Amino acid sequence: MTPGVAGSERVAAPAARFDVERIRADFPILTRTVRGKPLVYLDNAATTQKPRAVLDALAGYYTSINANVHRGVHELSERATRAFDEARERVARFFNAAHAHEIVFTRNATESINLVAHSFARPRLKPGDEVLITAMEHHSNIVPWQLACEATGASLRVAPIDDRGELMVDELERLLTPRTRILAVAHMSNALGTVNPVADLVRIAHAQGVPVLLDGSQAAYHLPVDVQALDCDFYAATGHKLYGPTGVGVLYGRTEHLEAMPPFLGGGDMISAVTFEKSTWNVLPYKFEAGTPNIAGAVGLHAALDYLEGVGRAAVQEHERQLLEYGTELLSTMPGVRIIGTARWKSSILSFVMDGVHPHDIGTVVDLEGVAIRTGHHCAQPVMERFGVPATARASLAMYNTREELDALGRALERVREVFGA
Ligand code: ALA
Repeated sequence: MTPGVAGSERVAAPAARFDVERIRADFPILTRTVRGKPLVYLDNAATTQKPRAVLDALAGYYTSINANVHRGVHELSERATRAFDEARERVARFFNAAHAHEIVFTRNATESINLVAHSFARPRLKPGDEVLITAMEHHSNIVPWQLACEATGASLRVAPIDDRGELMVDELERLLTPRTRILAVAHMSNALGTVNPVADLVRIAHAQGVPVLLDGSQAAYHLPVDVQALDCDFYAATGHKLYGPTGVGVLYGRTEHLEAMPPFLGGGDMISAVTFEKSTWNVLPYKFEAGTPNIAGAVGLHAALDYLEGVGRAAVQEHERQLLEYGTELLSTMPGVRIIGTARWKSSILSFVMDGVHPHDIGTVVDLEGVAIRTGHHCAQPVMERFGVPATARASLAMYNTREELDALGRALERVREVFGA
């Protein structure tokens, strides 16, 4: 196994036949040029491109069944409600939730985490209690807990990572105490690519009676996720990284938790009855879905999950593993380039720095070559601090990427070197 590349234990099953050119033909945007060059899109950790099936589902929804849900007796409202319900059932199957009512539609993973921090954690936290996260979290899995701690007098504890960007599980175990009220951890790091041993972490936390939220923003489109097998309490994901539309997110929560939690946002659809004296709440999952939801987004997400599973999770995983291996080799052999994040278990992220060149300058020069990468702190400033860098350049992979595109990145980086004399 090449160090720093996801190994066989995390590859779900033998790869099915995978024809990347056929896949690429399903993504209309991939044929366009940028800066007069063919687009090489390597910013998938920020958002993925959308297959035609998703674009058609969105257009089909708006051209033939658009109406509000749960409100009308007319045919369009009934059809929109059915499409919305079917989308929820599809998401439940995708994550193998035991019940569709355990899937709450949100705007994105950030909102999903905020929902749990607000409605699950805050009522349980008091001064002296602790929330445990890790040093590789995205700001979205840090700040909601800071807000909850500030409001309740609880403290935030942070499990460290090592120089490869791997979670130090022994340290995490040591930080789980009788005061810990929740563990919130990334399934996969957006800044490093590290894939955490989340089933083990859940087992360790549950042995201490600590519930676990997994931030699946990055993992869900690369790795199969089975929330029952993981035994997690909450799982947060976002539609736009799963090849679906922006503005639709997912929170999986166990029935008993969701039942016990107060609402997060108040308004239409989440009520059972309202008087000026008192209101009562709708059943799950509607209790957490105030206002008109992103119906089209849910319909688009349904199409995206059909598409992803139609291609085959194992095939996608194997393709991305091979690409990561190829990209790791390519960058490792470039003089002056250092990969940040070399965990033994990682997926689809190549974060790197280059001697003598600021990552923003790398991003600007490679963009002129048609190569889209992200540069900056990737909303994970503590990770940058841990590795002593202000920022990194990050190429991130998806199912439609190719070795040729990684070669194009390599050539663009040569150009960076020429421009900056690095
Ligand atoms: N969290 C997304 C990223 O890593 C936006 O780029």
